Parts: sequence; C-alpha cells; structure tokens
Amino acid sequence: MLETWYSFTNAKDERGALVAAEGRKQIPFSIERVYFVYGVGSGVVRGNHAHWDTRQVLVAIQGSCRFTLNDGKQKETILLNDPAKGLLVDCHIWHNMFYFTPGTVLMAFASSHYDEADYVRNYDEFLRCVQSGWVR
Ligand code: TYD
Repeated sequence: MLETWYSFTNAKDERGALVAAEGRKQIPFSIERVYFVYGVGSGVVRGNHAHWDTRQVLVAIQGSCRFTLNDGKQKETILLNDPAKGLLVDCHIWHNMFYFTPGTVLMAFASSHYDEADYVRNYDEFLRCVQSGWVR
C-alpha cells in the first residue's frame, strides 16, 4: 500500500470552513516550501518524476485530480478530492498527476527547498535507482 493520508484540522461553522495543517504534526516533516498548481487542462499529465530526498504532502484544495504513485514494484492510482486530506508523496516515489477537473488547485507542502538536482525525471534512471536501493 503506497497510499498514506493525513487529516487536517477542518473547522466548520456557519461562516464556512477553515482548514489548517502544521509541520511535524499533520504534515510529517518541517515544511520548507509550499507551492500550488492551477489552470491545468483536463488532458494534461504533470509530474513524471521522483525525488532523491524531498518528501511532500499534496492536497486538492479545490477540485480534484488523480495521482499515480509508483515505487518501482507496485503502482496505485488515487483520487484527490478532499481539501482537508493530504496525500503523502514520499521520496523515491515516481508520481504523475492527471484528470484535473476545471478549476482544480493542487497544493504541495514540501520538506526541502526547490533543487533540480533532487529530481529523477527519466524513468529508466528511476528503475536503476530502485534496483540500486537509491545509493548515490
Ligand atoms: P515541474 O516539476 O515540471 O512541475 P510538475 O511536477 O507539476 O510537473 O515544475 C514546473 C516548473 O516550475 C519548472 O520550471 C520548475 C519550477 N518549479 C520551481 O521553480 N519551484 C518549485 O518549487 C517547483 C515544484 C517547480
């Protein structure tokens, strides 16, 4: 099972809802970076990479999309459609995002600053990393 979820605080009252998540609590690491993706066309596939070290929690704060998580041995496709639940995309996991519904905003909490050297963007290289146990 590659799927791990974190439930955020969801304070709902007659004024609406407020969702909150804190580093090292509902997010299992210190948050070093936040980014979000929006305006993605319905036929677009994003992601297609893995990370050496970066861990992330992803949440569809508006709308929905699908995620494929792949550790090189098993693959799972998961629906993100709850603004109060975050999906762990751990390091060493090849991932794709697709089937964005119109208006979807996908937010990411990441454990490190952006560094292109942390990416594995070639699938054959990813499989070599899996086989070698991610030893550099
Ligand atoms: P990319 O990794 O291709 O996005 P996705 O994983 O959604 O397919 O990133 C798109 C562009 O944004 C690329 O030029 C790198 C840049 N970028 C940053 O500058 N900072 C960031 O934190 C991230 C995630 C990407």
